[in-house]
Amino acid sequence: MQESVPDRDELRDEVAKHRTPEYDVDPLFVNRWSPRAMTGEPLDDEEFLPLFEAARWAPSAFNNQHWRFLYASREDEEWDTFVDLLNEGNQSWATDAAVLAVIVSKTTFDHNGEPAPVHSFDTGAAWENLALEGARRGLAVHGMAGFDYERAAAELDVPEEFAVEAMVAIGERAPAETLPDELQERERPSDRKPLSEIVHQGGFRNQE
Ligand SMILES: Cc1cc2nc3c(=O)[nH]c(=O)nc-3n(C[C@H](O)[C@H](O)[C@H](O)COP(=O)(O)O)c2cc1C
Repeated sequence: MQESVPDRDELRDEVAKHRTPEYDVDPLFVNRWSPRAMTGEPLDDEEFLPLFEAARWAPSAFNNQHWRFLYASREDEEWDTFVDLLNEGNQSWATDAAVLAVIVSKTTFDHNGEPAPVHSFDTGAAWENLALEGARRGLAVHGMAGFDYERAAAELDVPEEFAVEAMVAIGERAPAETLPDELQERERPSDRKPLSEIVHQGGFRNQE
């Protein structure tokens, strides 16, 4: 059970040391990062279900809401199935999560059954909502592509018209020292490309 929610209105100290936004934006965006160190303690439903609630309010084409979240809490029978999907690198830290989830998306529109080219885009928006709500609550939320996609689909009975997108580890944060040595120095917020590299007025400009 998590004890307190950190201050939501400011850039957190651990973040301010590594990140300087170019413009004034809500600190929520900059405070989100992907810690790996987690306590291995379970979370109550009321502590992690709100993250899926946040995901639910993402926008999507035709309001189709392509996202689905399959999860196991560490006390669930299915926990080992979820852990076994992860590659070794991710297992070295993500086994201390409270919840592991596989994010899948429906590849067709509900209203006409046609392929939905935006299914991953929209599901990405839902995932970011989830991550932001987790960060707001002071939880560790860490996306993962390092797992067996085919086995995830097979072992979790994902229907044909759904695509497996990513996994996510959610847990109570722990000190970096609890991580394997090689991960300790990476346990900090990363920087970003400058705005000038990602935003182009007019057509796409080659940077070279
Ligand atoms: C879809 C996705 C897949 C990722 N896969 C992994 C992974 O398999 N293992 C890992 O340790 N981190 C993974 N990450 C975390 C990214 O490396 C991290 O988000 C990125 O370096 C930016 O850092 P930040 O989230 O701390 O801002 C993944 C993130 C996303 C969004």
